[in-house]
Amino acid sequence: MVFRMVCFLHGLDSTMGHSMHSYHGDIFTMKKNGPKIRGKFNTMGNQFPWSAMMFHAPWDPPCFFGTGQQHPLGAGRPYFTDTAATAPRTMVMGPQQHPLGAGPGEPRRVAVIGAGAAGLCAARHLSAAGVPCTVFEQTGHVGGTWVYNERVGLDQFGLPVHSSMYRNLRINIPKHVMCYPDFPFKKGGRSYATHQEIRDYLKNYAQHFDLHQFVQHYSHVKRVAPQGSRWSVVVEDLKSGRVTEEVFDAVLVCNGHYSVPYTPTVPNMSLYGGVSMHSHDYREPSRFAGADVVVLGANASGLDIAVEVAKVANTVYLSHNKDPVPSRLPDNVRQVKGIKEATEDGFLLLDGSTVRADAVIFATGYEFSFPFLAPECGVRVVNNRVVPLYKHMLHRERPTMALIGIPYCVVPFVIFHYQIRYFLSLFLGRVPLPPREQMEREEEEDLQKHLLKFPARHTHKMADLQWPYLRELAAAGSFEDDMWPVVQEVYDAVEDDRKHQLLVYRSIEYNVTGRDSYERVLPSTSSTPAAPAGLMTKQQPPQQHLHHHQQPLQIK
Ligand SMILES: Cc1cc2nc3c(=O)[nH]c(=O)nc-3n(C[C@H](O)[C@H](O)[C@H](O)COP(=O)(O)OP(=O)(O)OC[C@H]3O[C@@H](n4cnc5c(N)ncnc54)[C@H](O)[C@@H]3O)c2cc1C
Ligand SMILES: NC(=O)c1ccc[n+]([C@@H]2O[C@H](COP(=O)([O-])OP(=O)(O)OC[C@H]3O[C@@H](n4cnc5c(N)ncnc54)[C@H](OP(=O)(O)O)[C@@H]3O)[C@@H](O)[C@H]2O)c1
Repeated sequence: MVFRMVCFLHGLDSTMGHSMHSYHGDIFTMKKNGPKIRGKFNTMGNQFPWSAMMFHAPWDPPCFFGTGQQHPLGAGRPYFTDTAATAPRTMVMGPQQHPLGAGPGEPRRVAVIGAGAAGLCAARHLSAAGVPCTVFEQTGHVGGTWVYNERVGLDQFGLPVHSSMYRNLRINIPKHVMCYPDFPFKKGGRSYATHQEIRDYLKNYAQHFDLHQFVQHYSHVKRVAPQGSRWSVVVEDLKSGRVTEEVFDAVLVCNGHYSVPYTPTVPNMSLYGGVSMHSHDYREPSRFAGADVVVLGANASGLDIAVEVAKVANTVYLSHNKDPVPSRLPDNVRQVKGIKEATEDGFLLLDGSTVRADAVIFATGYEFSFPFLAPECGVRVVNNRVVPLYKHMLHRERPTMALIGIPYCVVPFVIFHYQIRYFLSLFLGRVPLPPREQMEREEEEDLQKHLLKFPARHTHKMADLQWPYLRELAAAGSFEDDMWPVVQEVYDAVEDDRKHQLLVYRSIEYNVTGRDSYERVLPSTSSTPAAPAGLMTKQQPPQQHLHHHQQPLQIK
């Protein structure tokens, strides 16, 4: 007789986001005529009654909301890939699957490079699927760029400081849509959280999914190279200086892409006598008090830093080559053209005008950088495009390597959550790898799609393309497309806020009220005719909802 054991978990919601969770529910076996209750359980955290969970039959994939698999490191401990508050509280114990072609021998191991949001997400899903992994992290923390560091330049081990956070940074996507789909933020608090809150959230994620056991700290990956069909990973223990080599079956590169500054070549820069820095090294504005400052680049960093520096500076020249920023800006911020060349005391701009400046901040973005990938890995960066990548992530020539988080202009944590699961589906043989010609063809089609929208150096830029991209990954990986539609809706609304109300958009609250609904709460001090203070729900008449942005909110 074939029957399944199904657990209905009733107790998760009150404890989501915490390390301890209680489980209580019913143990069922599925019979032809429906479920039959075989017993009850009620327990806390690690005391889940694993021994009661016996598989009675070969299990046929796929499961409904997750798979319960033997944890190879934890002595027969089944794991639930719970989908948290985003799915019904129903878990189905699923099959123990073996990677395609591999028998039930020694499990294949995965190296994860970096314990930022991407690396943690990798550990969460790999461990849930019972795949042994080691996460190599060069710092003593998890959270990557969200671990604010006052220090600039080199860290205590002589490595470049990784984080690009500045002291007063607040997120630019409301936290309830920025989060991983399977790990919502706790209720309450401001939508536009501080970097410290995101760091705490990531710490909670690591704790909740018991990920610390996989992270090897102060482990700087120095070199990754192919070794037959596997990968040699050379790691330096930064505390002892000891260098070791381990061999893995797959590598997930999660080293972050906003750490190595891109600084354009400015002719005559050596003549310039003022202060010059990259936004990567910007922490707070006090050193610019009373100064005339050029901020080059008007994306997220440039806009944020220009506004903050303007609070203390004499004049800020926001220098860029885009259309003028349509939002109101502080009175002492002037938008000017991009830089043509430097002079001794300032800059000649592309329209022939000049500005005198005591300092320039290059908010000109970052470079993809994989210094530890040996040339034999075959990964190259050509005009800001990482090749050869299938679906912006999978090493097409050596598909046991994936580079996570390459796309930008996205909701990063959501992208990680999908990319990792796609990799896992391939790695476990749940879905076949497409033939090489098909991957090449799809990659070319995708490139052309991007080139229609963006310049050649932005072929990993996503914006609107991120939504079909996520759906494609879910379909290709045959896993649940668990991002709520409201994420896209809020993302679009917020993009509009940011564009038109740069100075005040972070005081607007976004509360997710369902899969497809949200409330947008304006600050009570605002007083604009088109945007009355108070709550606006998505269901309100279109005129009111759609036109709220047309009048800038008052600056406090
Ligand atoms: C200033 C700034 C603001 C941002 N604001 C937002 C925002 O509001 N919302 C949002 O969603 N995203 C934001 N982002 C994007 C942010 O980068 C992503 O949200 C996400 O944190 C990236 O995670 P990651 O794991 O890919 O990289 P990271 O967080 O950079 O983590 C990479 C990790 O890899 C480690 N590492 C690197 N090289 C090695 C090595 N050789 N050996 C061992 N370990 C290594 C690093 O120490 C680090 O811990 C912002 C980024 C920046 C720079
Ligand atoms: N939470 C927050 O508020 C916050 C704050 C800062 C950063 N971030 C995040 O951090 C990441 C990096 O953002 P970023 O703004 O640092 O980098 P970015 O998005 O890469 O933006 C860099 C900008 O500089 C411009 N630029 C480059 N060279 C230039 C030149 N020579 N002259 C004029 N302009 C030039 C680029 O123009 P082109 O587009 O034409 O190349 C681009 O607009 C993003 O994910 C962002 O969302 C978030």
